[in-house]
Amino acid sequence: MLRGLARRLRQLATGGSAHPDLLAQLHTDVQTLQQSVDQVAAAQEVVFTRAARMERDAAQIRVALGLNDRERHDIAALDTRLDMARTAAHIDTVFRRAELLMDPFPYIVVDRMFPKEIYQLVLKAIPPAPFFSDKDPIKQNIRIPMDFAPVFSGRVWEFVDQMARECVVPAVLSKFREPLATHYDTIFGEGFRDRARKLPQAVSGGRLMLRRPGYHLDPHRDPKRAWVTCLLYLAKPGDSEAWGTQIFRVTDDKEASYTQTYYPAQSGSQVELAGLVPFRPNTALIFLNSGGAHGADIPVDAPADLERYSFQFYVGPNGPELDALIKDLPPERQARWVSKSEAIQADTM
Ligand SMILES: [Fe+2]
Repeated sequence: MLRGLARRLRQLATGGSAHPDLLAQLHTDVQTLQQSVDQVAAAQEVVFTRAARMERDAAQIRVALGLNDRERHDIAALDTRLDMARTAAHIDTVFRRAELLMDPFPYIVVDRMFPKEIYQLVLKAIPPAPFFSDKDPIKQNIRIPMDFAPVFSGRVWEFVDQMARECVVPAVLSKFREPLATHYDTIFGEGFRDRARKLPQAVSGGRLMLRRPGYHLDPHRDPKRAWVTCLLYLAKPGDSEAWGTQIFRVTDDKEASYTQTYYPAQSGSQVELAGLVPFRPNTALIFLNSGGAHGADIPVDAPADLERYSFQFYVGPNGPELDALIKDLPPERQARWVSKSEAIQADTM
């Protein structure tokens, strides 16, 4: 094709005025060439992406092997240090002590979420950089439980995940029993409280989060199926308490008409900052996604080396029981359990 194109260009250069057929053929040649170039560029992009992923995998393996060797004594001690019974009793106590606050929405701040020695292990188990997502340096995550991790990190985070499922879920459901009942009335309508209460509850969306200066999260509520959000601040000794979680009061608040993250300001509600939960070590902010909003901000001019680590997960129903309940709702309530795009489409019809 390129030879044909070159020949025709030579004819054009030496033949005086261009023949219409020659010009048409040249046009086709250029189009074909453009398609070929696009295909090569797309294929190259795939290769680059794969190479970057392989490089990252290799870095993770290299780091994990080194850590597994250096941390072998700490790993051996984990069997006795990760004391489940003691941690479970501790979580039960701190949840009982926490005061349920109702303004701007139902929430608790749990001090000393984990026993001190467990919290130290959790901080030490934060995996190094190659284990965090690398798309956006301001906002990096690791899914918990991890697919692959250094042994020490993997063991400690498995323990945290297990504690979340076995101890935090029942403690949360007990603490938020009353506001949850009201919430069920809002999202399902009256008459569904008992059924909603019996839905099996699970932990979802577990992620270890690293945030840096320039991070901004508009006031929002988490997805509708996430009834309660648990956010554990992984502050290190010496970390500033600034830039924790903003909590907002919402005037003329409405129920989200779809299941994804909901931004009240987009529905015309007034959003006003009500408070800031400080970023303190071993402290958990736990709140019901029933009203109001929460957000976060780390200014661009915050110290350049500032790092904010936290662990977030949701408590909410999973499995087919929730879908079965939604199917039994009256049509006008079912219509509020659709995706955002479906809700927008329904609005414009
Ligand atoms: Fe959120």
